[in-house]
Amino acid sequence: MMKYWVCLGLMILFVGGGGLCPLKGVSGIGVNWGTQSTHPLPPSTVVGMLRDNGFGKAKLFDANSTILDALGKSGVQVMVGIPNDMLSTLAGSMQAAENWVAKNLSSHISSGGVDIRYVAVGNEPFLNAYNGSFLDTTLPALQNIQSAIIKAGLSAQVKVTVPLNADVYGSSTNLPSDGDFRSNISTLMLQIVQFLSDNGAPFTVNIYPFISLHDDPSFPFEFAFFDGSSAPLNDKGTIYTNVFDANHDMLVWALQKHGFGNMSIIIGEIGWPTDGDMNANLKNAQRFNQGFMTRYSTGQGTPLRPGQLDAYLFSLIDEDAKSIQPGNFERHWGLFSYDGQPKYALNLGTTTSTNGVLVAAKGILYMPQKWCVMSPSASLTDPQVAPSVSYACENADCTSLGYMTSCGNLTASGNISYAFNSYYQQHNQLDSTCNFPDNLSVITTQNPSTGGCNFTVMIATYYSSYSSSTASSVRGCRQHPATAFGVAGLLSYVLYTIL
Ligand SMILES: *[C@@H]1O[C@H](CO)[C@@H](O)[C@H](O)[C@H]1NC(C)=O
Ligand SMILES: *[C@@H]1O[C@H](CO)[C@@H](O)[C@H](O)[C@H]1NC(C)=O
Ligand SMILES: *[C@@H]1O[C@H](CO)[C@@H](O)[C@H](O)[C@H]1NC(C)=O
Ligand SMILES: *[C@@H]1O[C@H](CO)[C@@H](O)[C@H](O)[C@H]1NC(C)=O
Ligand SMILES: *[C@@H]1O[C@H](CO)[C@@H](O)[C@H](O)[C@H]1NC(C)=O
Ligand SMILES: *[C@@H]1O[C@H](CO)[C@@H](O)[C@H](O)[C@H]1NC(C)=O
Ligand SMILES: *[C@@H]1O[C@H](CO)[C@@H](O)[C@H](O)[C@H]1NC(C)=O
Ligand SMILES: *[C@@H]1O[C@H](CO)[C@@H](O)[C@H](O)[C@H]1NC(C)=O
Ligand SMILES: *[C@@H]1O[C@H](CO)[C@@H](O)[C@H](O)[C@H]1NC(C)=O
Repeated sequence: MMKYWVCLGLMILFVGGGGLCPLKGVSGIGVNWGTQSTHPLPPSTVVGMLRDNGFGKAKLFDANSTILDALGKSGVQVMVGIPNDMLSTLAGSMQAAENWVAKNLSSHISSGGVDIRYVAVGNEPFLNAYNGSFLDTTLPALQNIQSAIIKAGLSAQVKVTVPLNADVYGSSTNLPSDGDFRSNISTLMLQIVQFLSDNGAPFTVNIYPFISLHDDPSFPFEFAFFDGSSAPLNDKGTIYTNVFDANHDMLVWALQKHGFGNMSIIIGEIGWPTDGDMNANLKNAQRFNQGFMTRYSTGQGTPLRPGQLDAYLFSLIDEDAKSIQPGNFERHWGLFSYDGQPKYALNLGTTTSTNGVLVAAKGILYMPQKWCVMSPSASLTDPQVAPSVSYACENADCTSLGYMTSCGNLTASGNISYAFNSYYQQHNQLDSTCNFPDNLSVITTQNPSTGGCNFTVMIATYYSSYSSSTASSVRGCRQHPATAFGVAGLLSYVLYTIL
């Protein structure tokens, strides 16, 4: 759990404007490209978005060959990922690691012209939610992949790393200078850090001020932001004006205490969601991300690590099939919505970005302008309403319904319509998916969206049709151990709040 920050300092430190002019030679910021969507944009479209907006680096969560093919010769540097569920195989077999490198690394670099710089071995494998499942396999998998990379002759170009959640370290006093690795994981962390150091590899950490705020109601809201008015934290003379700097430098202290004070650090994920939680909205997301980008562009770094940060924003595009076990906000981290439209202005400080306006995806095709809503003649007390809504939400996405979310002010029938429409759109507007029992639902060509509440029309996929196999891939998003819980949790939540 990320520590929250009690701010003791009395002095208000005005964070300098910093200026929005990027330093010459600052390479484009990185961005996470996740694919847990029912209707992912074509990889070539996404690569176009990366280039149009001047993103210099993309971080993937696997080594999907269609995506890597699209990144070939794009000029975008790539971090590929190895999912946690592959760690035990790779830990147990050098041959498996060599196969992975041959198929997923060497071939793309040599014949595909993909500029792969890093392999991320696992993704936050030591999260408490995984109950220690990956404690024994992460380091051996890291070692085997590194050996395979050396054997393939790629070790000068490709470095290994392990993206870790920021709760592998902490501080009993909340002061960065008291930072250290969590005692019950310290031995393993030091082995991993030593191995990374021996191989000239970076430490990768995901830092989420939003989660600090979400998990701890007493967290000082303003301290989450780079331009916050929170009283600064004075750590024995070093002044911290925001939790990102403090958390980052807590890691620097932890590394320093064990003789790794010079280890390079990559911020693997940083961002703010726009929906699904009372603090997740366009205003806060823009404030946080612009604050971070301004910091990034000026090359200012943190108090203990002045200089250029290396970071990947989380994330590029919303993912409507992501696990919501951590919260309904999980599906709303994108700078762009599902259809590649920018959600808010953001100056990335890159040469291509035009004065803070993100460039939308090009050539997006939508399904027809029609929606599935609750029939005007249906009754709210119909006994089929509850099971229909829960079925729709279980098999689609109702995360924009809830207290202080974008659709949190709908009427009871609006809530029901929202659930029906989400199911209908995710199922490619098939007539049979707007056919709830007792004639509860009806198709309309009148857009039910109101204010900030979006009744979306899904994009037309580049797959030929929405077959039953695609339908099972919607369920496929529930293979994650955490997701089944998430769906059940959402279900009872929706039933509780809607009905
Ligand atoms: C690779 O990505 C493409 C495009 O997002 C997707 O259609 C495909 O299912 C993915 N393949 C695998 C094996 O995940
Ligand atoms: C290559 O990566 C893909 C996607 O991560 C994975 O499904 C596949 O098993 C990997 N190939 C090998 C040989 O491990
Ligand atoms: C370490 O301790 C924390 C609580 O301090 C606990 O939540 C976590 O599960 C423990 N991790 C391991 C690997 O035992
Ligand atoms: C972790 O343990 C909890 C409590 O025993 C359990 O509910 C949960 O399903 C487990 N999660 C995983 C990923 O094994
Ligand atoms: C750490 O980096 C600094 C500045 O580059 C250098 O002077 C110092 O020798 C390095 N220390 C170690 C232990 O590598
Ligand atoms: C609609 O659903 C939301 C979220 O589930 C809930 O907060 C709200 O109270 C519901 N509105 C009505 C009128 O039932
Ligand atoms: C919902 O209504 C409340 C109370 O009127 C208002 O403060 C809030 O801004 C509204 N939310 C949205 C998303 O319109
Ligand atoms: C649903 O509508 C059809 C056609 O209007 C009608 O024949 C049927 O009786 C209705 N069913 C219910 C349960 O109201
Ligand atoms: C709202 O819907 C429109 C059209 O369906 C879409 O272009 C836009 O990206 C959506 N916004 C969000 C935040 O999903």
